Amino acid sequence: QVSHKQEMMKMHEIATHHFRQNLQKSDIVRKYVQERQIAPETLERFGIGFSSDSWQALADIFKRSGFDLDIAAECGLLMKSKNGRYYDRFRNRLMFPIRDVNGRTIAFGGRVIPALDDGESAKYLNTNGTPIYKKSQQLFGLDVARRSVTAQKNIMITEGYMDVLTLYQFGYTNAVACLGTSFPEEQVKRITELSKNVELLFDGDNPGREAAFKACGKLLVKGISCKVVLFPPEDDIDSLLKGKGKELFENLRENRTEGLSFCIQTLKKRSPKDAIEWSREFLGQIEMPELFQPMASKLALGLGIDEAELRLGVVEQKKTQNTRMNFQ
Ligand code: UTP
Ligand code: MN
Ligand code: MN
Ligand code: MN
Ligand code: MN
Repeated sequence: QVSHKQEMMKMHEIATHHFRQNLQKSDIVRKYVQERQIAPETLERFGIGFSSDSWQALADIFKRSGFDLDIAAECGLLMKSKNGRYYDRFRNRLMFPIRDVNGRTIAFGGRVIPALDDGESAKYLNTNGTPIYKKSQQLFGLDVARRSVTAQKNIMITEGYMDVLTLYQFGYTNAVACLGTSFPEEQVKRITELSKNVELLFDGDNPGREAAFKACGKLLVKGISCKVVLFPPEDDIDSLLKGKGKELFENLRENRTEGLSFCIQTLKKRSPKDAIEWSREFLGQIEMPELFQPMASKLALGLGIDEAELRLGVVEQKKTQNTRMNFQ
């Protein structure tokens, strides 16, 4: 099994190299990269590439090199058809290597290139969970961001690949992406180990705001200080920086909302019953006892409810609750 994993890592290294070479060869892809304003240095630093429209390019390389194609399929680089033929899983996509903290590629995300798209494919195709890629544990860009995160004691969390690349180009080198909006518990743990100071830069649309709300709850109960930067509904950090400039971003950043205040703002748009329920579950999960009192007070004040009553509910809930409540 260990050697299988080594083989999978090796194949990802080969694939990364192969995709990068492809990118240089395709005018259409280079044009798309220019449109998205991805600088050559950024392409290089993140190892961005292109999977051509061939069904066999990677499969042939692996076959020639004597790899076990079943293992290539198991780690998500190839697919196996019903009649036993292997073919490339990623085609006609801009390829983002997902790398471990040491910079070794363990998975890929591939973005549709509009000029090469049939209009039916999902915008992003990602490697599913594999023996070398535990999806819920990885953060895109961490290998690049780690040193800055440690030095600045601050981490920026975004939704997507492009967000991390663009922040990097604008000089924010401490950004990672959770790749979507679900922010699983293992990613939370990863982040708490890296920094106690988190800035959430989620998309300005409703799913992005909802994701920020959930992320705040998960971080705050662990004693992590988190701040939310709010973008216009039509923007994510990538489109904002490129379309509206760094100055606007810095303004929004200055006015960022403290995590619990952001939760309160969100809860105020819900029914009082839901808001109280959420608050009690949230308070019941706080891991630092010294944070309980100030957070309970802030929630009660912010929501305009009686603090004693709010807290009473938490105690009762704890008694009846065997497993940890899921307050998402
Ligand atoms: P978004 O839809 O916000 O895309 O998804 P984006 O990152 O802004 O992409 P661009 O700017 O149009 O290129 C955020 C993240 O969610 C995941 C990807 O990781 C993406 O970066 N996602 C999104 C998928 O995995 N599949 C999809 O079809 C869409
Ligand atoms: Mn085998
Ligand atoms: Mn989005
Ligand atoms: Mn986005
Ligand atoms: Mn985007």
